[in-house]
Amino acid sequence: FPIHKPQQMDWSFAGPFGTYDKAQLQRGLKVYTEVCAACHSMDLVAFRTLEDLGYSEEQVKAFAAEYTIEDGPNDDGDMFERPGLPSDYFTSPYPNLQAAAASNNGAAPPDFSLIAKARGVERGFPTFVFDIFTQYAENGPDYIHALLTGYDEEPPAGMDIPEATYYNPYFIGGKSLAMAPPLSDEQVTYEDGTPETVDQYSRDVSAFLMWAAEPHLEDRKKTGFRVMVFLILFAGLMYATKRRVWSKIP
Ligand code: HEM
Repeated sequence: FPIHKPQQMDWSFAGPFGTYDKAQLQRGLKVYTEVCAACHSMDLVAFRTLEDLGYSEEQVKAFAAEYTIEDGPNDDGDMFERPGLPSDYFTSPYPNLQAAAASNNGAAPPDFSLIAKARGVERGFPTFVFDIFTQYAENGPDYIHALLTGYDEEPPAGMDIPEATYYNPYFIGGKSLAMAPPLSDEQVTYEDGTPETVDQYSRDVSAFLMWAAEPHLEDRKKTGFRVMVFLILFAGLMYATKRRVWSKIP
């Protein structure tokens, strides 16, 4: 039973001039905090970085303060709890990996900090050759979107699905996974009139996870473009110089 190829989506951050859509990232954060964060941690992302999404310092402070952070030891050697600060990181819903696995039929939900870079389906020859020129690097969000929207299909006749797992033909780990379909229509309220559908939630949370994994993508692309322009000009200049230096040699 082959794994299905994710559909290639039209991401705002694709291509050499790609940029993040901040409204989309804010919606993605909402989906993450209201749905995914019940199981998936995001250990490497600090609350302060949410200013990238267009939030003010005050908004980030208020967001962080909703979390309870375990800190310490204090002067008496005790651990204590306090409200989160912008310098804190997204907390894990489980105390450790064993507890995470035990609550999910033995499969710990992976951390989300780098998931958009860590997952993706091999595109195979010759597609990957063209990908170099089109700068396709969105395997991760394409895969996450496909996985989240891919629970609808029935397993093919004769396929044996292990107990407490769910069939998903896009899952790269096999035919079924321990995560039940996490999203349903109208589950998360959007204030900006964006459709409240599984497809839209999946797009938004995938874009958000791409930002989490690569917050400096826009800078990287801008720098890359400047470097290419410089190299082309420099090559022309070098060619003209070479012609001049060698012009007197018959
Ligand atoms: C695995 C996304 C919500 C439990 C995964 C994976 C992704 C993902 C990308 C990795 C699949 C792979 O290894 O290729 C999401 C998103 C969520 C969400 C975007 C929110 C919209 C949840 C929730 C739970 C959960 C609420 C718990 C009730 C798991 C588990 C796995 C997993 C147990 C490991 C599955 C396995 O390896 O068999 N999820 N998830 N997820 N997720 Fe979620």
